[in-house]
Amino acid sequence: EKGGYATFMEKEIHDQPHAVADTLLGRTDASGRLVLDELRISEEQLEAVDRITIVACGTAAYAGMVAKYAIEHWTRIPVEVALAHEFRYCDPIVSERTLVVSISQSGETMDTLMAVKHARSLGALTISVCNTHGSTIPRESDAVLYTHAGPEIAVASTKAFLAQITACYVLGLYLAQLRGGSFADDAQSVMKELGEVPAKIETLLGRMDRVKEIARFMADTRAVLFLGRHVGYPIALEGALKLKELAYIHAEGFAAGELKHGPIALIEPGQPVFVIVPSPTAEHGLHGKVVSNIQEIRARGARTLVIAEEGDESVVPFADEVISVPATSQLLAPLLTVVPLQVFALWLSTAKGLDVDQPRNLAKSVTVE
Ligand code: BG6
Repeated sequence: EKGGYATFMEKEIHDQPHAVADTLLGRTDASGRLVLDELRISEEQLEAVDRITIVACGTAAYAGMVAKYAIEHWTRIPVEVALAHEFRYCDPIVSERTLVVSISQSGETMDTLMAVKHARSLGALTISVCNTHGSTIPRESDAVLYTHAGPEIAVASTKAFLAQITACYVLGLYLAQLRGGSFADDAQSVMKELGEVPAKIETLLGRMDRVKEIARFMADTRAVLFLGRHVGYPIALEGALKLKELAYIHAEGFAAGELKHGPIALIEPGQPVFVIVPSPTAEHGLHGKVVSNIQEIRARGARTLVIAEEGDESVVPFADEVISVPATSQLLAPLLTVVPLQVFALWLSTAKGLDVDQPRNLAKSVTVE
């Protein structure tokens, strides 16, 4: 059942090309237009949405943070990401024009369920992005958009994360298409590009031997830092969460722009730091700034583990290790850049002799508040 792999997590990491491809399946018509018949909320109601709040916990919340960048860019609707357990206690601003999107692999997370119920009681429209058919959160929501990652057994989420980002992107593009704004025409080309991502993940997975080796030599590491910007920021947070969950070490993700406002004080000789570098061609133009961050921490002795687009030679002089990922557009990059971080956490946990699939103190679905 582990498909020849030693752990479910390793299998699920390798399932990721399918998780993305299957989540895209059947969501466009012959002409390439998005069709989400499954949504059960009228087009009129969706067109009237003036605010989106994403509620989720853990990895699912990081998928939501990634999605915020994309949905705001495509729809110009303000998107807020709330940790589900904070949401109903912070007097949230919700109206009947608010769309509350919950993200949950299990569909049973009590914190997320309570956030959805609270949102509904305030009159919001609720959509559940969920991986488990027949689970509670979709039943308690106005509509559901299923992720098709297949069952995820390992406690630490991997393929569900990629499927959640994919599903949220489909939703964002659908809303853009409905609203007919300037990005409506782009929806089809983004869908086409998303369709090319599974093959790129496959290519990337074929190159993970070095990451496995790096992890093996880091079994004694006591702390790891992760830096990223724009969509790379939530990926830094996710990379850190994976290490906490699986290897029980202090790991922290930062927005690279914050470095000089505090975290750079943590850099001492030998400190491992993963840096997620945006493409040199990314429209936001942040590549050079992140490369400068690598220089800054390297000058203070950090061991720099750099995730960069293949062919990006500019990082080489400042990188102790370069992990190359296939090129894609800036909003789709997280579907690739997170993969080496998952692989790293898997093999670091293995190197420490820990239980990869069932880390201590954690449960796959937390059904208490
Ligand atoms: C946590 C799990 O308890 O719940 C995380 O350890 C997971 O891995 C989070 O991301 C949310 O779970 P779900 O099922 O709501 O996506």
